[in-house]
Amino acid sequence: MSAQQQMPVVPESYWLQSINIPEFPTLEESCKADVGIVGGGITGITAAYLLSKQNYKVILLDAGKILHGTTGHTTAKITAQHGLIYDELIQHFGVEKVQHYYQAAIEAKQLIETIAKQLNISCELQEEHAYLYTNSDDYIVKLEDEWKAYDKLGIKGELVDKMPLDIPMKTALVMSNQAQFHPLKYLTALTKACIDQGVRFYEHTTAMDVEYNNHPAIITKEGQRVTCRYVIAASHFPFYDGQGFYPTRMYADRAYIVAMETPKKYPGGMYINAETPTRSIRSTKIAGKDLWLVVGENHKTGQGKPTIEHYEALQRFAQKEFDASKCLYRWSAQDLTTLDKVPYIGPITKEQQNVFIATGYRKWGMTNGTIAAKIITDHIMEKDNPYTELFSPARFQADPAIRKFTQFNADVAKHLIKGKLEYPDNDVAQLKNDEATVTRVQGKRTGIYKDMDSKLHIVDTTCTHLGCEVEWNSGDRTWDCPCHGSRFSYDGAVIEGPAKKPLQKRDAAELD
Ligand code: FES
Repeated sequence: MSAQQQMPVVPESYWLQSINIPEFPTLEESCKADVGIVGGGITGITAAYLLSKQNYKVILLDAGKILHGTTGHTTAKITAQHGLIYDELIQHFGVEKVQHYYQAAIEAKQLIETIAKQLNISCELQEEHAYLYTNSDDYIVKLEDEWKAYDKLGIKGELVDKMPLDIPMKTALVMSNQAQFHPLKYLTALTKACIDQGVRFYEHTTAMDVEYNNHPAIITKEGQRVTCRYVIAASHFPFYDGQGFYPTRMYADRAYIVAMETPKKYPGGMYINAETPTRSIRSTKIAGKDLWLVVGENHKTGQGKPTIEHYEALQRFAQKEFDASKCLYRWSAQDLTTLDKVPYIGPITKEQQNVFIATGYRKWGMTNGTIAAKIITDHIMEKDNPYTELFSPARFQADPAIRKFTQFNADVAKHLIKGKLEYPDNDVAQLKNDEATVTRVQGKRTGIYKDMDSKLHIVDTTCTHLGCEVEWNSGDRTWDCPCHGSRFSYDGAVIEGPAKKPLQKRDAAELD
């Protein structure tokens, strides 16, 4: 049987399948709060918890369902070992600032542990050593340099030539006593604590804009206003730009996860390799058995080979290295990376000090999202926070940011132009069920998906953000934009911003 035949047909996150998450109404009338939060992931819910604990009146809006965005699709490692990063960051920021980066991640881990203990949350939180390993000669020196960076920063680490996980490797850098958990068990409990503390949640309520003044108002798609003293954009890609030009300062990439059954006992530890293609491994328990989570195959959203091939590559890897026999779940996640790889956390611009953003976590949302909630809460409470300056969205590191800015925007321009010059002429009649194609219909680039019941779903492929052309994602059955990472369902509904409006639907009659 081929790898593809053994995979679940529909991508589903194990985290989302294994817990009941409360549901909330849609916002139907304008209202007021001290703090309006947009986005019900780890950042928004942690901030809502911390602020409501201090008696702030908080309203949280989510465009879909809480915890169903990036937080529901994470690997859920709680670690300061964010890949191969410290040596590089020291070169750009200097030792002192990078110590803050490390300490921020450790403080986030401690905050999660404290909250879980205080609220008595049973969320499979457990300490594990984190291993950054390589099987490539080219990366041995890089790992040695990273180890030296650990030493400069006072991080306890060790280079080893053996790991508990039996996998081809030449050397690994260990960071001890990191952690992992079931993210949604933790955050569902936190949501219930928020409700007890008076937080009001609204789902299927899309925030479109902020009307900025001393009391900013969040404006929803249906025209309601949430007037507040502070706004927190915790919506992954900020729903409001405030002339911070965030689409030009971040790029989106996707990673894939397969959850595999194997006859082997998981040896403990969390692993990620340094080279590409990325392979990141951890486990969780399902009905008393180890479920191996194998993650990787990162690529820029909307670019590269058919996405189903990424799942297949991970599955082949798990079969070869761990005798994995069965894939129980598969899902994917989107990550945003800033120009200098450090998240943007703080006031959206220097002029708008009461509108905050938290974004650009790369793959490390559990620690970055938690510390973002703490930094913003401290800012609102006018308390000093040692990490404010490092994460400030207003920072400007001349090198390498300018070079990356130019490269990144050249890449966007390339995709914008390429999409406009393409004249695909694919034959819709050849389309099989559960396949999509792009063609020209009456001169317009058009995307057509044929569902399992042979029904055609036809959309204009022009992204409603800034007009690039979306591409089909066969692994997740979505239309993905190569420019800033917006994603749309097969029938055009927005799954992920920065786009806020759906792809325009086209009529089947136009195909004739
Ligand atoms: Fe910006 Fe599509 S996400 S143009």
